[in-house]
Amino acid sequence: MIKQIRNFCIIAHIDHGKSTLADRLLEETGTVSLRQMKEQLLDDLELERQRGITIKARAVVMRFKRGNVEYELNLIDTPGHVDFQYEVSRSLACCEGALLLVDAFQGVEAQTVANAYAAMEHDLHIVPVINKIDLTHARPDEVAEEMMHSLGTDPDDCVRVSAKTGQGVDALVDAIIDRIPAPTGDPDAVLQAMVFDSNYDDYRGAITYVRVMQGTVRKGQKIRFLRAGTTHEVVELGQFAPQRVARDELVAGQVGYLICNIKSLGDVHIGDTVSIAGDNAAAPLPGYSRPKRMVYCGLFPSDGQNFSDLRDALERLAVNDPSFEFEPETSDALGFGFRCGFLGLLHMEIVQQRLENESDIDLVQTAPNVTYEIINKRGETITVHKPQDVPDPGDIEEFRQPIVRCNIIVPTDYIGAVMKLCQERRGIQKAQEYLGAQRAMLTYDIPLAEVVYDLHDKIKSCTRGYGTLDYEMVGYEAADLCRLDFLVNGNRVDALSIVCNRADADRRGRAVAKKLKSEIDRHMFEVAVQAAVGSRVIARETVPAMRKNVTAKCYGGDITRKRKLLQKQKEGKKRMKAVGNVEISQKAFMAVLSEA
Ligand code: GTP
Repeated sequence: MIKQIRNFCIIAHIDHGKSTLADRLLEETGTVSLRQMKEQLLDDLELERQRGITIKARAVVMRFKRGNVEYELNLIDTPGHVDFQYEVSRSLACCEGALLLVDAFQGVEAQTVANAYAAMEHDLHIVPVINKIDLTHARPDEVAEEMMHSLGTDPDDCVRVSAKTGQGVDALVDAIIDRIPAPTGDPDAVLQAMVFDSNYDDYRGAITYVRVMQGTVRKGQKIRFLRAGTTHEVVELGQFAPQRVARDELVAGQVGYLICNIKSLGDVHIGDTVSIAGDNAAAPLPGYSRPKRMVYCGLFPSDGQNFSDLRDALERLAVNDPSFEFEPETSDALGFGFRCGFLGLLHMEIVQQRLENESDIDLVQTAPNVTYEIINKRGETITVHKPQDVPDPGDIEEFRQPIVRCNIIVPTDYIGAVMKLCQERRGIQKAQEYLGAQRAMLTYDIPLAEVVYDLHDKIKSCTRGYGTLDYEMVGYEAADLCRLDFLVNGNRVDALSIVCNRADADRRGRAVAKKLKSEIDRHMFEVAVQAAVGSRVIARETVPAMRKNVTAKCYGGDITRKRKLLQKQKEGKKRMKAVGNVEISQKAFMAVLSEA
């Protein structure tokens, strides 16, 4: 039976046709009929459709009869973006093969390379697939060549398909069966299964996706999550085809789901190992790690009123997305809100968008920052998620920031522009390779903070949209960083503190101080705006005191006009935040945050 199982995933750059191909495979194998095919099936989050990015991995089983033999083909859907790298690696660990899908016109892109390397590291058998051969401007021969240069695949091995018309998809099914090895494993051994995904169902609780490596898991059985240390009874198990189909057992080699009355997704850890309850459990599978949040920002309701609404909305989100975290935060400037941690920039955007879609709270977001490591004078290492927690300069022995390795694929005409950009962003070049006559891949190590700032947008704009960027963490490195503060009449405005390179502090300090000055209304007294590193002031601007008596307008007018004016003032007040004795409008903060 295990000999007829094939577990595989599709790795592709965004928009190269992964979802369309998955649909065609379901159709080709008779899993879903054409009529049911109205909607694309694998991405079911509303937002995914909006953004066109597969966020969460899913698994679908296809039963396909060739001759007299029935095969079980498990397609494990992997997220395509770097922010979800850990989930990608767990999904890959459940497969024996991968379809490496490349658009016949676009060619190899940065994410294709990153994910293909990851698949090779997991020893997966790679089936190169060139999609969209129906396009009139398709250039499959050149693309096969590019794949050979960048990924080492043999052009003769490439399966050419059109996921749109279905051309070549039958040959692809044959390739999946013939080229991808069957899983190994012993159904009679002690249960050992890998958790590679989970999602939340309002009625059933957590649904845990597993790949059984060894042994058999049965309905009603007591199982144990080895890393979490929790024991549960399996209430239901089965496979997705693509709707949920309950079964009595899943054996070594199979992929499916478990439902165990788990009420919170926080209790299911991706990468965890499922085994039997009791003393004779199997060893945990390797490669487990907790999701690392690399990007943080503060989220505040814009008028300070909807704090509990925002908390409810965040809690709802976290139920479905355990890699997102939040904790209450109080800011002098912005009131009560939350500090939120994300896997990366895209993850942050997705969460914000979901918040906006699913609740109608007006949000203020502080500038995103990365996680820093600081070694203080006592030799302790502290991890810092927000700039205002960075200790004073006198207490810092070493200031370390995360570095990422960026692969950037660009048309050769733009190499110069991209190199200049990466150097400006303190990148260190690691490699440069030509993928073909027209395209090259540049590899740089760049501080994550610089990438977070705006690198992706800048690469897009200096390559007319043709450049693609992908990155992975390489670790922390010491750098000459400092905390840059802003003070209004001597009071530090916490939400505006940033971490930056010492060499940039003067320039950025001046720019933000200027902006702040232009956004603060005049008061009855002079308002000093300062930028400072520790106790050293590096820029100062002054908002002069008010000269004209504006209330004069009120006198002599009729009563309704006065009332209106008072009412207007009251409304204005709500949106004002006090820093010491200076009132600053919310709008001013937002303008400054976008500058910072
Ligand atoms: P993400 O979910 O964003 O990662 O994208 P994806 O890789 O799943 O791509 P998707 O299947 O959504 O396809 C992207 C676009 O390419 C869609 O507009 C498809 O209709 C189109 N497309 C996919 N396959 C083909 C093909 O074989 N030929 C043509 N002409 N278009 C295709």
